Amino acid sequence: MDLGLKGKVAVVTASSRGLGRAVAEALAAEGAKLALCSRNTDAVGSAAREIKEKYGVEVYSAPCDVEDGIRIGDFAAEVLDRFGAVHILFANAGGPPPGTIADFAPADFEKAVDLNLLSVIKLVHAFLPAIKQQGWGRIIASTSITVKQPAPNLALSNVARVGVVAFMKTLAGELAPFNITCNTVAPGYIMTDRVESLIKNKSVKDGLTYEAAGREITAGIPAGRIGSPEEFGALVACLASERAGYITGETILIDGGAYRGLM
Ligand SMILES: NC(=O)c1ccc[n+]([C@@H]2O[C@H](COP(=O)([O-])OP(=O)(O)OC[C@H]3O[C@@H](n4cnc5c(N)ncnc54)[C@H](OP(=O)(O)O)[C@@H]3O)[C@@H](O)[C@H]2O)c1
Repeated sequence: MDLGLKGKVAVVTASSRGLGRAVAEALAAEGAKLALCSRNTDAVGSAAREIKEKYGVEVYSAPCDVEDGIRIGDFAAEVLDRFGAVHILFANAGGPPPGTIADFAPADFEKAVDLNLLSVIKLVHAFLPAIKQQGWGRIIASTSITVKQPAPNLALSNVARVGVVAFMKTLAGELAPFNITCNTVAPGYIMTDRVESLIKNKSVKDGLTYEAAGREITAGIPAGRIGSPEEFGALVACLASERAGYITGETILIDGGAYRGLM
C-alpha cells in the first residue's frame, strides 16, 4: 500500500537512536524527506548520513535540545530554509530517570515536565505555522503507556507525560478543520538503549540478573516479548500517512497487550 508520504517533509526529534531513529527510518523508507535532531551533533549527524545512504532521501540534521525553546525556534527556521515546507512533526524527547516519588525533589518533576510535556508544546508552536501553510499535516506526539497506567519505579514519567494527551486532544479539535491530524502514541516496552538501561536498573534494584529482570518484565506482557523499534516506526508511519486522514485526537498504545484497562 502506498502511504502517500513520498516527498513530504517530516521533522523527527530525539532521533539519533531508539524510537526516534526507528520513526525516521520508517518515514524515509516511504520516501519522506527528513529533518532530524538530538543534543549530540555527531550522533544525529551519523544517523542522518546512514539514513540518507540507505534510503536515498534528503536528510537535514542539527543539534537541538527539545527543552530549549529558543533553539527549537532556530531549528524550525533552519528546516524551513532547507526544505521550504513542513508536513509532519513527530515530537519526541529523551526519558526521565527511573525512581519512586520519594526519590525525587519537586525540581526533578519540573525538569521532567520541561522534557516530556513542555517540549511537545514548544515543538508544536515552532512548527505549526509551516504545517498550516501546507493545508495538510500530521502531528504525532510520543509519550508512554504511563499515560494510561502508571508504571512502578517510573514516577517522573507517570506524572510528567499525561498533559501531552490533553494538549494533543485539544489541538486535534482545533486543527481538524485545517486538514491536520494530531495523535499521541504510547509505547509499552520497545527494545532500545533506554529499555536496556531500565532492565539494568531493575536488576540492580531487585538483586536479579539482567536476564531475570528482563523475564519479569516480559511476564507482564501478554505478547510475551518486548516490541521492536521497527514495529513502533511502522505505527507512526501509518498515522503519518495519507490513509490515516480521519484518525485524530487518539492515543494509541503499542504495548503487546500490557495495558489492562478497558478504555
Ligand atoms: N523504548 C521504550 O520502550 C519506551 C517506552 C515508553 C516511553 N518511552 C519514551 O520514549 C522516548 C524515547 O525513548 P527511547 O527508548 O528511544 O530512548 P533512547 O534509546 O535513550 O534514545 C533517546 C533519544 O533521544 C535523544 N534525546 C534525549 N534527550 C534529548 C533532548 N533533551 N533533546 C533532544 N534529543 C534528546 C537522544 O539523543 P542525544 O543523547 O543525542 O540527545 C536519543 O536520540 C523517551 O522519552 C522514553 O522515555 C520509551
